Amino acid sequence: MLVNITMKVLNVVGARPNFMKIAPIVDQMKLTPDLTGVLVHTGQHYDEGMSDVFFRDLGIPVPDIHLGVGSGTHAEQTARIMVEFEKVCLSEKPDLVVVVGDVNSTMACAIVAAKLLIPVAHVEAGLRSFDRAMPEEINRLVTDSLADLLFTTSRDADENLKREGVDPSKIHFVGNVMIDTLLKHREKAAALRIEKPKQYALVTLHRPSNVDDPKVLGPILQALEEISRTMPVLFPIHPRTQKRVRDFGLSLNNGVRTMEPLGYLEFLNLESSATVVLTDSGGLQEETTILGVPCLTLRHNTERPVTITHGTNIIVGPDEGRILHAFRRIMMGDWKPSGPPELWDGCAASRIVRIIREFRR
Ligand code: UD1
Ligand code: UDP
Repeated sequence: MLVNITMKVLNVVGARPNFMKIAPIVDQMKLTPDLTGVLVHTGQHYDEGMSDVFFRDLGIPVPDIHLGVGSGTHAEQTARIMVEFEKVCLSEKPDLVVVVGDVNSTMACAIVAAKLLIPVAHVEAGLRSFDRAMPEEINRLVTDSLADLLFTTSRDADENLKREGVDPSKIHFVGNVMIDTLLKHREKAAALRIEKPKQYALVTLHRPSNVDDPKVLGPILQALEEISRTMPVLFPIHPRTQKRVRDFGLSLNNGVRTMEPLGYLEFLNLESSATVVLTDSGGLQEETTILGVPCLTLRHNTERPVTITHGTNIIVGPDEGRILHAFRRIMMGDWKPSGPPELWDGCAASRIVRIIREFRR
């Protein structure tokens, strides 16, 4: 009698940083005959520049299933994803659900799978900012408490999980899939012909704690205007932030060149040759660590401490004076990386897929 030994895996994406993380895993699964990957897009992000462009840039196949949930409050968005994803799990009957990162789609799909007794793998497990005012921290805690396979990017994440009582046999330190994607696409991005200033600061901002309060966003924008007196500031603006800038009636001078969010290759090109990056993004703290570009993180904390100990990351917070002080120190050459974090070597996805196959046996 022939037995079907193919393992069916639902790979979940929803928001911008998920696409870079799933791309190398999808690639690896394609090379593995006994794994069938089914790509599910929740539709948390849906603008062309926040979603479709990454499928083209990263060569990710069109999603097999699109849930089309769109935006909403946390409860509305999470609930819509759960309702739609439950139907998918019931009809597809997967052997495993893979979720990445820390967005609402990550947590919502992990809850659904766990309740249907479908094993869950969490890629980028164990990161902790220890700040529950950050919606992502809630998503991380819930997802990790439900996951059967916890793939980590750094040793500190392993320690966080063990401290929370996670069975060490579930924890696998594999490296960083976002860096797999960066290393794969770095040369292609560099080859793009993009007109850009010799020196420039590159900025991204989207954390609710920075952009949802005019008393915080206003001074950050003033700091950017001040920096633009020294060098142009390139600022691809996340849709959440665009909306807030408009709603609060804030404006920026011409030295700050605002633009729509960029595709991955175009953005990586600009990030690689920036003089300095100012950001509140999680992914950018990691990418600048590998690119060797100084990174000022406009937050009070980070869930990615290796980007400070090994990388170029400096935690500055959102205060205008502190941002400008840190920028001037960078201009004086007062920064240096100490080498790439362990296992950020471009092979994380192949380790993940190997462990997933062993999990089945
Ligand atoms: C989400 C994630 C955050 C991640 C970020 C990456 C959660 C809780 N937050 O934040 O962890 O760092 O994505 O970019 O999951 N919007 C559009 N078009 C889109 C998407 C969003 O206009 O394609 C606007 C809508 O007004 C929406 C707002 O942006 O209400 C926020 O979108 P949402 O997905 O809720 O959160 P992000 O701030 O994008
Ligand atoms: N990114 C991009 N275009 C942009 C801004 C960011 O392609 O205009 C990429 C960036 O290089 C990184 C990812 O988006 O790979 C980070 O996503 P984001 O900052 O939205 O989310 P976070 O990492 O904070 O969760």
